[in-house]
Amino acid sequence: MALQKIHFISLFPDVIRDGLSHSLIGKAGDKITLNFIQLRDFAKNKHKTVDDTPSGGGAGMLLKPDVLFDAWSSVTSLEEKRLRPAAERPYTILLSPQGKLLAQSKAKTMASHHRELIIVTGHYEGVDERFIDLCVDEEMSIGDYVLTGGEFAALVVADVLIRLIPGVVGSEESVARDSLENGLLKAPQYTRPREFQGLTVPDVLLGGNHAAIEKWRSEQSQARTKRKRPDLWEALKKTKQ
Ligand code: ADE
Repeated sequence: MALQKIHFISLFPDVIRDGLSHSLIGKAGDKITLNFIQLRDFAKNKHKTVDDTPSGGGAGMLLKPDVLFDAWSSVTSLEEKRLRPAAERPYTILLSPQGKLLAQSKAKTMASHHRELIIVTGHYEGVDERFIDLCVDEEMSIGDYVLTGGEFAALVVADVLIRLIPGVVGSEESVARDSLENGLLKAPQYTRPREFQGLTVPDVLLGGNHAAIEKWRSEQSQARTKRKRPDLWEALKKTKQ
């Protein structure tokens, strides 16, 4: 199963739409449907209020549960969430620094296990916990830092997921050769000219011996993962044990 549709629920859906339209992902229209939902359209009063102060006091504003719930219900329902397996219904992700960190392996699982995703971007100080309890399947973070809003996180998550859909990126081989695709960083890459500022392209890459090139790339890939990302190298060793 491959990902076919992503709904974004956001106060700034245009930021996500515009951001995606400037990349290769914007040309993936025949592979995936993107639906942008303006959270403010579900506000309950004439001032279009979407947030309120935290119960018990404290700084900042929280997104209101009823507004979030109605926006979410425009795509799916509690009944669907309760009754249908996660892979067969819209799966809801809330972007938040409290979520699990996104990694390439996780993105691959998501892109292949879900036909439809709902990506909810938080804003202000956060969201009312009851929306999370009722509607969210998974909280996801793109890194241990705090953004002003989830829109940039949504762009990152969508970009990572969409480029994994078969046919979106030029060749399947370029996806298969991505850094991190096999838990390793990519080998160094070169193009013409053969010599630049006194630095030359390694001879092996110009020799036309494909087996030798593969061997060189694999060795380089391992060596630079060990050097630049010892954390990844250790994780890889552990999974192999
Ligand atoms: N919203 C604010 N900070 C975030 C982060 N690090 N990841 C995902 N969503 C966020």
